[in-house]
Amino acid sequence: QNVIYRAGIADGRPAVPTDYAELERRAHAAMSEKAWAYIAGGAGEGETMRANRRALDRWAIVPRVLRDVSSRSLSTTLFGQTLPAPLLLSPVGAGGLVTRNADVAIGRAAASLGLPYILSNQGSASMEDVGAAMDDVAPGSPRWFQLYWSVDDGLVDSFLRRAEAMGASAVAVTLDTTMLGWRPQDLNLGSLPFARGEGIAQYTRDPRFRAIVDEKVANPDPAAESPTPSIGAIKTLVSIARNAPGAWWRNLVDKHPRAAVETFLEIYSRPSLSWTEIEGLRDRTSLPIVLKGVLHPDDARQAVDVGVDGIIVSNHGGRQIDGSIGSIDALVDVVDAVDGRLKVLVDSGIRTGADVFKALALGADAACIGRPHMYGLALDGENGVREVMSNIAAELDLTLGLSGHTDVAALDRDALKKVD
Ligand code: FNR
Repeated sequence: QNVIYRAGIADGRPAVPTDYAELERRAHAAMSEKAWAYIAGGAGEGETMRANRRALDRWAIVPRVLRDVSSRSLSTTLFGQTLPAPLLLSPVGAGGLVTRNADVAIGRAAASLGLPYILSNQGSASMEDVGAAMDDVAPGSPRWFQLYWSVDDGLVDSFLRRAEAMGASAVAVTLDTTMLGWRPQDLNLGSLPFARGEGIAQYTRDPRFRAIVDEKVANPDPAAESPTPSIGAIKTLVSIARNAPGAWWRNLVDKHPRAAVETFLEIYSRPSLSWTEIEGLRDRTSLPIVLKGVLHPDDARQAVDVGVDGIIVSNHGGRQIDGSIGSIDALVDVVDAVDGRLKVLVDSGIRTGADVFKALALGADAACIGRPHMYGLALDGENGVREVMSNIAAELDLTLGLSGHTDVAALDRDALKKVD
């Protein structure tokens, strides 16, 4: 935090506000209406997003005094990698809605801080490009890959091979989005990010995806080709063709629009996904496996039983089910259920260093940050992401010391009291 205070004094105002409310206000003003709806929006009436905040607000930090806090450590080890702070950047798809080089800018910021960036399956840049950009800043800097399990196992394997090749140190399989949630902000604007060619960069470069599309083009499904496309569908196709990355894809959309779009929509997820596929994942990759979107303690126990390495307690930032449990409320039961047998991370609603402190004291090994880093991106690109993440780390460090602790790894529930 000294670095930030000194920089503030020397250089005047920081590029991004140091409090979340102002960060969010300024980011809103800087974004297009559709980008704001997609990034800031939540499921249904926003009840889960509020539950995430309520769950955090229910816990109060009870500081200790006179405990020599002159030297402190935020350092954390996850799957063999030592991190400067227990913080990761959550995967965020379709970031290209905010700025053209979103994933690369976020990757560079994460690499400069040594914090893991979890690259999204629905990224707006390919994992190869983002991995290379991160290596430019800091060779071998930590990065994970987030997977949506496709109906096509060949595509799953292809993504896993590419993730291993670009230096991923874990794969996070997102389980809460086998279908997209009910998102009124997007629906009311008639806006879907995929319809703007965003979020498909992992696919258009993929050899298996190309083979699937080629097969579809060679053997068109007569039933699918016959109805006249609606005006909406045509508009969607035209905008995908314009915006989507890569000549191969643009060419394909030009010649075979239906095959292109239908393949993508059909292939992205597997609503039938079950524990069977997760059990088999160990044979498909050497990477540590993390399950993202676990909220029920019985699922957490099953995750231990099938031998995965970690879970992320998450309700997807309140974007999937409305009226869901706040992720910090779920965290407490999940931590008790797994009893140290795997790593427990948490995200959804975490905004400040004090929030991270509470998550760690409740038993999380690390916290992931979603929307805040996107707001930093909207305000000042790579530098904005770096400032947002450093501010959270700096406030965590201050909160640690001011509450009488010196090591994040030693925090426990004694540091907190439930206040409602
Ligand atoms: C997400 N999230 C997400 N998760 C995932 O596994 N794959 C993805 O592609 C995306 N895409 C995505 C887009 C946007 C715009 C947002 C805001 C979120 C969920 C994300 O990883 C994380 O769980 C939440 O963002 C955490 O909550 P907060 O910090 O945003 O409240």
